[in-house]
Amino acid sequence: MKTNALSALGRRTTLPPISWLMHAALTRPKLISLAAGFTDNATLPTEISRRLLNEILRDPKTGRPALQYGITAGEKNLRELTARRLRKMDWQSPSSLKNKSRTGTRDEDEIYPAGRLMITGGSQQLLYMTLEALCDESDIVLVEDPTYFVFLSILQSRGLRARGIKLERDGIDLAHLEEVLARLKQSGELRRVKALYLVSYFQNPTGVTTSFAKKAGALKILKRFARAAGHPIYLLEDAAYRELRFAGDDTPSALMAPGAADDVIYTGTYSKPYAPGARVGFGILPAGLFDVVAHIKGNHDFGTANLLQQLLARALASELYDRHVAKIQKNYARKARVMKRALAEHFPPGVEIWEAGGGLYFWARLPGKISAGPKSEVFQAALKNDVLYVPGEICYADDPSRAKPDNEMRISFGSASEADIREGIARLGAGLKRFIAAAR
Ligand SMILES: Cc1ncc(COP(=O)(O)O)c(C=O)c1O
Repeated sequence: MKTNALSALGRRTTLPPISWLMHAALTRPKLISLAAGFTDNATLPTEISRRLLNEILRDPKTGRPALQYGITAGEKNLRELTARRLRKMDWQSPSSLKNKSRTGTRDEDEIYPAGRLMITGGSQQLLYMTLEALCDESDIVLVEDPTYFVFLSILQSRGLRARGIKLERDGIDLAHLEEVLARLKQSGELRRVKALYLVSYFQNPTGVTTSFAKKAGALKILKRFARAAGHPIYLLEDAAYRELRFAGDDTPSALMAPGAADDVIYTGTYSKPYAPGARVGFGILPAGLFDVVAHIKGNHDFGTANLLQQLLARALASELYDRHVAKIQKNYARKARVMKRALAEHFPPGVEIWEAGGGLYFWARLPGKISAGPKSEVFQAALKNDVLYVPGEICYADDPSRAKPDNEMRISFGSASEADIREGIARLGAGLKRFIAAAR
């Protein structure tokens, strides 16, 4: 029972789906979880971390500062290494030649300024603080339909409204973005719109990667409507899965788009490519926002754990980080192949599968009116058979302009072993065959 002393936020905040999903996974040892967004335990960098932590702590000259509080915005070396890494990824991507001409004469340091790069307690903290800095209760955030459900939980908790933008296989439907903004303008609500949130690489939950053309197109549209809104409408690009790419080329970030410096917030993380347990994230923010978010971080924690920042900085400065990323990319490629084969073997025809070239997720759409939602027979039967997936329904915002689709599932190949992936998909597939046959 909740105390009656709660704030509006305290009263409003409900149990986030992430909590009950993690609880189910951790309390049922026999359960095969194809739900968790966890990375693969088997490839977590214990050896590298031990070696680097030893290096840091062996000498009091490096050990003591690492065990002391640090700077709110992050350790200088890590900020610089991170900015350099982002620059390298963007400017080395095969399509960057084209984009170089689009960014005009902007200096690379201007696009990736370490001074506007903040290190945070996971990228989750940066997403939360950005919303705190930008949004008052009832403000509106545009999101992909579907999107990262933990982000939706923040919106719910903070009393914000979400509007879904249709998602296509190469990112959001730009015509729909325009249509939604035009409708909000007409209803006098445009000034409440603060940001468009895109999980642009191997999206959680669908695996979709947003093309650069769509990022640049979305930014152009946001800038056009910003005039009528009376303030910038930020493009909040969440690149959490960018480094888990195992097929195709990298796509440049929205930071490369014309006019990005003022309106693009880019967030990334070392959780997925290195270790969620270290929980170090980062982001580049426009000048008008950086200081405010840094002040908010001052109130949150006045700086991310220094020891962990030092660990990441050492990993990045050596070749160890790159070698580790190359290793896990191969590992996820193999696990994705195992899942693809199992899906082909066990899922009934008529289930549409979206396969990703990176990240941790496949997306499955069931035919007709078969529900896969948390209360559905499909979900309950899966639980009974000790297999868990994320019901797609929870990844859709509470947007009154459309009904939430409930016939989809996010299936992860991240943390389950190859044997469990095969077994889990076989169990799910057997259930689906029954439900689909019964629906005919
Ligand atoms: C899309 C997306 N963004 C951000 C995060 C947060 O990651 P972290 O806080 O560990 O950086 C996650 C975690 O699963 C995610 O899926």
